[in-house]
Parts: sequence; C-alpha cells; structure tokens
Amino acid sequence: MEHAIGDRLETINVLGFTPRQAEAWAQLASHRFLLYGGARGGGKSRFLRWGGIGLLMDHAAAGRRGVVGALFCSTYPELRDRQVSKIEMEFPKWLGDLRDSQQFGLAFHVAEEYGGGVLQLRNLDDPSKYKSSEFAFILIDELTQIADPAVFHTLRGSLRWAGVRRPQFIAASNPDGPGNLWVRQLWIERDYPPELQPLADEFCFVQSLPTDNPHLDDSYWQDLKTLPPDLRRAWLEGDWYVFSGQAFKSWRTERHIIKPFEIPMHWLRFRGIDWGYASPFCCLWIARNPDNGRVVVYRELYGKELTDRQQARMIADLTPQDERISTSYADPSMWARSTLDNVTSTADQYLAAGVQLTQADNNRLNGKRKIDRLLEDLPDGKPGLLVFETCSNLIRTLPAMAYDKRHPEDIDTTQEDHAVDALRYALTSLREGSPRQEKKQANPWMEMKL
Ligand SMILES: Nc1ncnc2c1ncn2[C@@H]1O[C@H](COP(=O)(O)OP(=O)(O)OP(=O)(O)O)[C@@H](O)[C@H]1O
Ligand SMILES: [Mg+2]
Repeated sequence: MEHAIGDRLETINVLGFTPRQAEAWAQLASHRFLLYGGARGGGKSRFLRWGGIGLLMDHAAAGRRGVVGALFCSTYPELRDRQVSKIEMEFPKWLGDLRDSQQFGLAFHVAEEYGGGVLQLRNLDDPSKYKSSEFAFILIDELTQIADPAVFHTLRGSLRWAGVRRPQFIAASNPDGPGNLWVRQLWIERDYPPELQPLADEFCFVQSLPTDNPHLDDSYWQDLKTLPPDLRRAWLEGDWYVFSGQAFKSWRTERHIIKPFEIPMHWLRFRGIDWGYASPFCCLWIARNPDNGRVVVYRELYGKELTDRQQARMIADLTPQDERISTSYADPSMWARSTLDNVTSTADQYLAAGVQLTQADNNRLNGKRKIDRLLEDLPDGKPGLLVFETCSNLIRTLPAMAYDKRHPEDIDTTQEDHAVDALRYALTSLREGSPRQEKKQANPWMEMKL
C-alpha cells in the first residue's frame, strides 16, 4: 500500500505536520485533553483536521475500523470557512471523500482501505443534541468562542467508543473569545473544579505561535505586526491575559489588588448582592474613604446552591457586630415572587434572616461606566477602586469580562459575571460623571440615604 498506515511515524509523514504540530501530536500519547493554541496563524485549524485523520488512521492500525470522531466549530459559517472549504482543497482523493449522508450528516469518510473511519463536521448551535452521540474523539476549533463551560462538559459526556480506552478531546484556539476565562483556568492555570481533579494529569497545553508556521505568507505577517497593541499581544504573542474584547481594560492586577488593612471606623460601609442558586450568588462588602472618595472592596462571599435564608445568614454571620453597614444594594429580581405558591420574595426571606435589602440600580451601562471611572486614578495617583487580595472571585472574573459582540458597550452576560454584578449594584448611589464634575457637586455620596 503506497500510503501505508500502521505505526505513528508513518501516519505523521502522511499528515505533514510542522515540528510544533508534531510536538502537539506527540502529547496525545499521554494526555486526553489537549489545547493547541494561543496565537494566530500557527497552524491550529490545519492541525485539527489532519489530526482527526491521524487519529482515525491510528484506530484503523489498531484494528478498529469505522470509528467516528467529530470536528466542531461554534457556527456553521465558521465550520465552512475554517474547515470544510480547506478539506475540499487539501485532502487527497485517495484518502476518502467528503459527503453528506443521513446517518452522519456532513462528514469526511476515510477510504475503506485506510480503515473506513468517519470525521463528522459539526457546529455547536445546539450542543444538547449531541447528548446521546458517541465519538471516539472530539476536535473543537476556536474553543474560546464557547462562552459556557457546560458545553465542554456536555461534549465530554459523548466521548466514548467501544474498544477505545482513552477517547481524546483536542481543541485549538486563540485567546480572544468569551470563553477565555474557563479555557485559561483549565489549560493555562491548571485550576480544576473538584469534579475534574482526577483528570488533572490528562490536560495538556501546547503553545502555537505564528513563528512556528513556515507556511505563512509575508502579507499575513505584515497584518499581524501592524495590529493595535492589545490584539497584537493576543494574536501575535499568544497572551491569554489580554484580549481585544476585554471590558475593563484599565484593570491592573498590580495596582488594583491590595493587602488587607484595618478600615477606619468612620468610613461608610455598604454591600452589593447578586442573587443566584444554580449559578453562584455573590455579596461584596465595600467601604468608602470620605476624604477622597476611594472605594475599597474588603470582603467577598461567593457560593452556590444556598437557599435565600442560608445566603442571608452567611452574610449576617460574616459581618461583625460592630461593623455598621449603611445599605445592602441587591439585584432587583430578588423582589419577584417566582411562583404562585411563593408567598414571599427573596428580599422577604433575607429580611426574615436579618438582612434588609435596598433595590439596586440595574442599568448595566451606568454600572459599567461607574466601575470604569473608579478604576482610573484619583488625584493622589492611586486608583479609585482597590480590592483586598482576599476577594478572589472578583479578582478572577473582573479582568476576564468581555464585551457583548451584539451590544458592543455592554458586557457579555453569558460569562461568570456575578461578582461584577454585585459590584455594580453596590455602586448604585455613586453618581455618574467625571471626577471633575464630582468635585463641583458637593459630594455625591453625601446624598446617600443612611
Ligand atoms: N503543516 C502544514 N503544512 C502546510 N501548510 C500548513 C501547515 N500548517 C499550517 N499550514 C498553513 O498555514 C496557514 C495557517 O494555518 P491555520 O489556518 O491552520 O492556522 P490557525 O492557527 O488556525 O490560524 P487562525 O489563528 O487564523 O485560525 C494555512 O494556510 C494553512 O494551510
Ligand atoms: Mg484557525
């Protein structure tokens, strides 16, 4: 057979990988969850489609014929653009054929003499439809386009194939999508939720840079080099911490995060609460320096699957007796009675547990602008907003907030935005406007009802 399959070395020759693609491929021998990516143009999309063929060939070599794997993009136009059109051009005739069938939908069928495997080509418009599917491997192009990590977990549930002990998940991605945070946590920071801890050693990240790809033409390089600074850092250098969609661009870890200090008694203290049950609820305790208007987030409570009463009790318990909280601004939805049987609202439940709430301003754009303004420096050269290093969820999620692609001024609400919402609510009584305007007004905070 001219294009013999059998051992991995020969497979690799057929796949035509660059050295960095080959390095990522080699990691698959010891890892089940591979992320290949970081920057643009390194050959990520090509690695996925040829990697899919390579895996089908490996299965065939091990005697498993007719194995099915899937290659996903988030939408059909992206699938067409990034993969289907390239498969049509690149995959040689002898390898098999691309066709639509009732059983597999759009798929590349590897020729019978090479094992007859199937690479299904799919989009993720409705990930739940894959709940009952089975794949020997799953490939996802542009993983950070998936905002909700639940999609990853749903797909993970479909990773099974008779006779395949270690079904693999391979993703390729640039850093700049709404899923930046969860993808970064798993593959870059290696921070796993308890349920994924047993699989921690199976995760592997291989950096892909445009410099790894000898097949890029000059114009592509020129385009990359002339990008504005934040996109350049994300796309050319593969920086996971700067991406074009970042909503709070002024946030700097080294400037806005501080070690806890004793807050003077006379500072005004208040709270912001974002309600949640299945998704987390968050309460932030905030103090304001009356001399310069600086706001300090000094305590955080973050948790899920807690009843309204449990939430209120924990908030009360975490607040020392001698700490006078002027107002607790809360998510206005907490005043709704969700069912007919529900005679009390969440706000009533909180009150019964000793926490009186005030409805927060829920204007998202106002809230965003207030946070932006506080992130800037006050005349003393330090930012208007400081966060104790103990408030780990606010610190983790605020810099990761991305803009909503459909409402460019607003934050994408599909992300983990509970701590940012709590902060926004807490700032209800802060007037909008520039610091200079604020000076002209007597003192916006003095108008707060205490
Ligand atoms: N091993 C290879 N052999 C030949 N050409 C390759 C190889 N790897 C990548 N290329 C070519 O380099 C170009 C960029 O590759 P690809 O589109 O896979 O990169 P990418 O990292 O997915 O880029 P983007 O970040 O824009 O999605 C394409 O024209 C692709 O065909
Ligand atoms: Mg690509």
